[in-house]
Amino acid sequence: MISLQTFIAEKTFKNCLMNASGVKCMTDEELQELARSEAGTWITKSCTLVPQDGNPSPRYADLKMGSINSMGLPNLGFDFYLNYALKQHDTGNDSLFFSVAGLKLEDNLQMLKRIQDSDFQGFTELNLSCPNLPGKPQTGYDFDRTNEVLDKIFNFYQKPLGIKLPPYFDMIHFETVANILNQYPLRFITCINSVGNALYIEDETVVIKPKGGFGGLGGAYVKPTALANVRMFYKLLKKEIAVIGCGGVETGRDVFEHILCGASMVQIATQLMKEDTPVFFRLIAELKEIMNIKGYQNISDFRGKLKEL
Ligand code: DHB
Repeated sequence: MISLQTFIAEKTFKNCLMNASGVKCMTDEELQELARSEAGTWITKSCTLVPQDGNPSPRYADLKMGSINSMGLPNLGFDFYLNYALKQHDTGNDSLFFSVAGLKLEDNLQMLKRIQDSDFQGFTELNLSCPNLPGKPQTGYDFDRTNEVLDKIFNFYQKPLGIKLPPYFDMIHFETVANILNQYPLRFITCINSVGNALYIEDETVVIKPKGGFGGLGGAYVKPTALANVRMFYKLLKKEIAVIGCGGVETGRDVFEHILCGASMVQIATQLMKEDTPVFFRLIAELKEIMNIKGYQNISDFRGKLKEL
């Protein structure tokens, strides 16, 4: 019997697949569909203190090898997602991920205090990497600021917390970020967010309206960068910090590669947009098929065990 069971922060998940925040998780209907799906768990849309409409449309485009988006954080506001999370707790689900993306540090602290004081017992993913807010830098690219944010949060926050990181491209950056993160009781990181501020052109024109066509790139284009980030952080972070992989997963083989690099859980974004929630059933079947051929029965038989030459 092949099992895709996985663990983060002493909690067990029936399989290692979930949505990435932002995809099919903004409204009650979308969240209900995720709950009905085969995913091992799911995460809510990154929220701000108050509801937001986001950027003007078109703000997402499917591309042949991925996607580009500049959504601009459309969401129903913190209270909606906290209510949803508490309803999940009331029905016995304490494995939900709750994504928070305040527009400023004070907003993040306020939302995390409310989560801390609530009955929510799931995971919080603090998003330090939204690339789509005009005038707002990605916190994950400002290392001192990232340290300051984590310092302020862990002054009071005691529930399981992780952060969503942007992709890094330089060995010194990986090491600098890992050294900061290792100082805190983080339980996971999620990497990567989209490759920020890419530009896609069809004929003579951009394909999304906000920011002159610039947006976050996802899908097959970004898989090698995602794998590099998962691998480097798996090697550099202390063992208490699990790595959740995200980026470029279209097939069971892609999930397998994320796990080989060290991922404990794998998030699906672009492919979930394209294929909707049946994607989880397909990926589970494809991953189990690979494990069967290789004689692996559990994720732990190959997680992190990428072979180097
Ligand atoms: C949005 C995009 C992101 O990549 C992110 O991390 C958060 C929000 C958005 O545009 O809505």
